[in-house]
Parts: sequence; C-alpha cells; structure tokens
Amino acid sequence: NGDMLTWSGDVHTVLSPICIKTAKGLERKLIGTYPLCGEKEAQIALDAAVAAYNNGRGEWPTMSVAQRIECVEKFTRDIIAKKEEVVKLIMWEIGKTYGDSVKEFDRTIEYINATIDALKDIDRKSAGFTIEQGIVAQIRRSPLGVVLCMGPFNYPLNETFTTLIPALIMGNTILFKPPKHGTLLFYPLLQAFRDNFPKGVVNTIYGRGNKIIPGLMESGKINVLTLIGSSKVANELKKMHPKVNRLRAILGLDAKNAAIVTANADLSLAVKETVLGSLSFNGQRCTALKIIFVHKKHVDRFVKELSAEIAKLKYGMPWEEGVSLTPLPEPQKPAYLKDVIDDAISKGAQVVNENGGQTSESFVFPAVVYPVTKEMKLYTEEQFGPVIPIVSFDDIEEPINYLIESTHGQQVSIFSDDHSEVAALIDPIVNQVSRVNINCQCQRGPDVFPFTGRKDSAEGTLSVVDALRAFSIRSLVATKL
Ligand code: G3H
Repeated sequence: NGDMLTWSGDVHTVLSPICIKTAKGLERKLIGTYPLCGEKEAQIALDAAVAAYNNGRGEWPTMSVAQRIECVEKFTRDIIAKKEEVVKLIMWEIGKTYGDSVKEFDRTIEYINATIDALKDIDRKSAGFTIEQGIVAQIRRSPLGVVLCMGPFNYPLNETFTTLIPALIMGNTILFKPPKHGTLLFYPLLQAFRDNFPKGVVNTIYGRGNKIIPGLMESGKINVLTLIGSSKVANELKKMHPKVNRLRAILGLDAKNAAIVTANADLSLAVKETVLGSLSFNGQRCTALKIIFVHKKHVDRFVKELSAEIAKLKYGMPWEEGVSLTPLPEPQKPAYLKDVIDDAISKGAQVVNENGGQTSESFVFPAVVYPVTKEMKLYTEEQFGPVIPIVSFDDIEEPINYLIESTHGQQVSIFSDDHSEVAALIDPIVNQVSRVNINCQCQRGPDVFPFTGRKDSAEGTLSVVDALRAFSIRSLVATKL
C-alpha cells in the first residue's frame, strides 16, 4: 500500500491443483507468478507500517472512527467490483468449487459489513459518559500498533479478512502476507488498498514465510501476531519476538474435531452430517470432523451407510455442476494421506469404502478407515484432507478420555436423540473444547458466534465483535468532578 516496488528479483511460479494433460502426463497448470520478497523488502514494508502508526500519532490511528469506517466502506465497494475475478482465482488456486468460492467472497463482504455495524455500535456507546465515585469517564477502544496478519490457504480471502479488517478498522497498521496457496487472488484488491487507506497503513508482502517472517518477529516491532494456521509455526514465531510478553497473539490453529455417535443417535442424520463435516472442501477445514467415535451397537451400519453416501458424491473440476470433491492444492498432501492410511492398515484397519484413498495426481478419493485404534497416526494427527477415521466404542468414557488427552480443543459434535444423555454430556465435553454441536457437524459460523479453542487449538477469540476487541485495548479518559 506504500510504494509498489518494481521487481527484478526471484519469482514464485503458481501451479493450480487443477491438472492438464501434457506430453509428460497429467501436470498442475501454471496460472501465474508472484514476486518472492526477501528480508530487505519485508523490512521496507515493516518500516512503512511502523511509520504509518507513528507511535499512535499517525493519521490512521488518530482518525475518527467514523472516518475509518468510511474508508473501509469505500474499500468494500471497490472490492465488490472485483468479485468475479477474485472468485475465479480462489477456484483456480485452491480448487474450491465455483459455488463455494462465491460463498467465500459473499461471506467476507457480509463479515465486513457486520464489522462496520458492530463498530458503529461500540462508537455510539463510547460517546456516553460513566460516572463512578466522583470520576467521569469516557470509555473507548484504542489500537495496539503494527499487526502482522497471515491467513490460511483453505479460506484465503475470508479468514485473512476476518482478522485484517477488524485490525485495520480499529486503527492499527497492517503487514499482511498472503497464504502460499491463495496468493494471486489478492492482486485485484491491491489497488483498493492503495486508493482507500493512507500510505503505509496496509502493506502486502509476497514471499516465503520461513524466509521473511523471522526477521519481522525478531525486530520486536510487531505488536500483534495474527495467524490462522499451524500451532507449531505459531509457537515458533512467538518465541522469535524479543519481548514476547508485549506481543498479543490472536491465533486459530490445529484441530482434531471429534463426532460422538451414541447408542441413541439418529443414524441417518449422523451419517449425513459426517459427510458434510468431514468432506466439505475435501476435509480441508480446521472445523472439519477428523475422527468419528461410533457406539459399537451402530458401527457396522454406520460405516456401511457412510460408504454408500460417499459413493454418491461427484468429483471433478471445481466449475462443474454438482461436484463436491475437487483437486487438493498442497502438492505433498496425497502422499501424506497415503502414509496415514497405510500406517492404519499396517496396524489392523481397512479402507472400507469403494475406491477409498485412490489417488490421481492432485486428487484423492475419500477414504473411510475402520477400525481406528490408539496406536495409529489417524487417531491423533490432524489429517486435513478426505480421510475419515472411525473408532468403535462401548463406554462413553472412551471418547471423553480421548478429548481429555488430546492436545487439541476446538469442537465436538454429539449425535443422540436422548435429551438426558445429551444434557449429561454437555459439561464434560464443553470443558474440553470451545463449542459442542448437538446433532450437527462442527463449523465456525454464524460469524457473530465466538470462534476459539482450548489447548493448542487457539489463542484469543474471533467473531465479529470479539475481533474488534481482540485488536484493540479498552481505554478511558477520566476527569475528576
Ligand atoms: O478452516 C477453518 C475455518 O475456520 C472453517 O470455517 O467452519 O465456516 O468452514 P467453516
């Protein structure tokens, strides 16, 4: 957003997960390139963000809330004009179906509009005064400084903007690195950043995270780290900051959400929600169901019906009508999924559905793996792909102990038609995770709901209002009467 740098350095070649036939066979289609910034350019961007913040005295952090809202509203109008271009880039870069790419775009715009409404509400309330013990105070929210913002490949636009926009609108200045897969789609939006915000307020850096982010963290000039991605990376980055106690971290991290299908479950419903929960966007959602505990009374029928439902799913190109299974963007993912499936097979499990786990270049057909047991990788590792591990249980303490021992703590789905059983399970389970879903899959939305997790799954809370709080501090101006 500062000066666009002319580029003569290294470039990264972007290969789509969508393959085309070449003389060498099926190959990922080349869809573009982007500049690979090095440490020097990242430092220039950091300096621009620091200068624009200017210790809280810059134009942006001192601007009135109403004016900042106006800038974001104009920005929103500009990016809506780019919708079709951005949607197609989401589809080509990460293989998301056209319909789901449109939904991602629309959800992002709705999120921005809801953020604006929520901030107007906060601003209206802060216009009033509170009087306590002879002190009159005006309570408001103030920015935190320079925010380093990184989103994930699976919602490159939406989950980047669900942190970037609240951070921005609260008066912080931004350094933003697009995800490795899901980068080109930001190009059509760069002009809108330039046109609507003062120089240096939003700075986009393209490059390899492991090359450019360490220097930024080590500088000690980042006030807030926000990352939707891996727990391991987040921990490493936090440690690089020289004054980690002064760093605020807003993180959405690894998850291994479980479904618990009790003896009293409506099986057809549990199967339907498991298909949605485990396989939407090929299982590449942090909220996906990644392990299914089924009571032994139902397990054979569950596995059979689940396999039959999966057989009905259509795979193909993301623009094709009715397709839900599409190519995977991460080149190493098919080999990883094969490894965890092979590991389970070598320890006594089977792939029970027809064509399960079959791979063709970037495509992997969903695999239902049963019976999964403790010693298998699929029991604890977050597969983040179209593999559904099924565990049979006899005593409800078994899945509860799984949650207690897990390093993850995002969400759980309980399937049961017995109200007293559900009521008895809620507390033991919600005290292990941050959201319990009754008779439905796990999910982040609606976006006004708090989105967080326990243990290694999150730090801080996001939602329309929570994000505004996360990227600001409650401050006050107090006068003695
Ligand atoms: O990948 C993590 C996302 O937060 C999932 O969002 O549940 O709306 O698909 P979603």
